[in-house]
Amino acid sequence: MSKIFDALRKAETKMTGSPRKRRQVRSRREPGEETESTFLRGVDKNFRRGLMNLRNSIDSELKNNDYRVIMFTSAVAGEGKTTIVAFLARMLALGEADRVLLVDCAVVNPEIHALFGLENDKGILDYLSGTVPLEEVIRNVEEGVLDIVTTGTRRGADITQPLFNSEKMSTFIRATREMYDYVLIDTSAVMEAPETPIIGSYATGTVIVVQSGKTKREVIKRAMLMIEKLDGRFFGTVLNRKRYYIPEFIYRRV
Ligand SMILES: Nc1ncnc2c1ncn2[C@@H]1O[C@H](COP(=O)(O)OP(=O)(O)OP(=O)(O)O)[C@@H](O)[C@H]1O
Ligand SMILES: [Mg+2]
Repeated sequence: MSKIFDALRKAETKMTGSPRKRRQVRSRREPGEETESTFLRGVDKNFRRGLMNLRNSIDSELKNNDYRVIMFTSAVAGEGKTTIVAFLARMLALGEADRVLLVDCAVVNPEIHALFGLENDKGILDYLSGTVPLEEVIRNVEEGVLDIVTTGTRRGADITQPLFNSEKMSTFIRATREMYDYVLIDTSAVMEAPETPIIGSYATGTVIVVQSGKTKREVIKRAMLMIEKLDGRFFGTVLNRKRYYIPEFIYRRV
């Protein structure tokens, strides 16, 4: 495990559960402003600043939207999607009024459950298969401030496109976007998971995580087009591990 994930584990939180209510208007933090929470202490200062910038970019991108369902993906595997979305989810959840749901749709390499110490015995795949109801797949972590849906197992069955391209998925998104201020979705890389652009079509927008210096611009563009082809809205890219270990901020063009 990387230093960052170690820090994620060790981090402590002051908050003991926030009231369950719909989004309240709250002041936007300036990029780089320190958060009151303790959870990111011990994490690289620049990474922390990058997360705040990312949050502010997403908020400004979504200021005219009622819902904030944001998919995180990448062109190829291992660019840092899970790292960024897990930290962002915790940072948002520790904010004053935000209700945050983190959904693991990364069926190729699910990791969210392990990061948060959850069993992966039931999750989104089981819900979509119709074997487990919604309330049973939502798990509460971090002393009540963050909810998580893991991938689940759906043992013995194919993980195929129709599972996500379904009325059940539509219901899942409609229900959760009403319940939460932010629904963040971790996915597998577009080039290795045909379901990812389909999941993107249900999201308000998609962020593509790019490991700086790793993936060719053409490949990123192809991933972006695959998402847009299925009517997904592309927000921009996050450069991970560039000068500042990032997410530094969102670039609209690649
Ligand atoms: N900014 C960062 N600084 C240091 N380590 C990082 C950073 N981002 C990711 N890593 C490390 O790189 C590895 C891959 O990251 P991660 O699992 O988040 O990628 P991923 O895109 O989710 O991969 P996959 O496609 O397999 O789901 C992990 O070991 C993670 O700890
Ligand atoms: Mg991952």
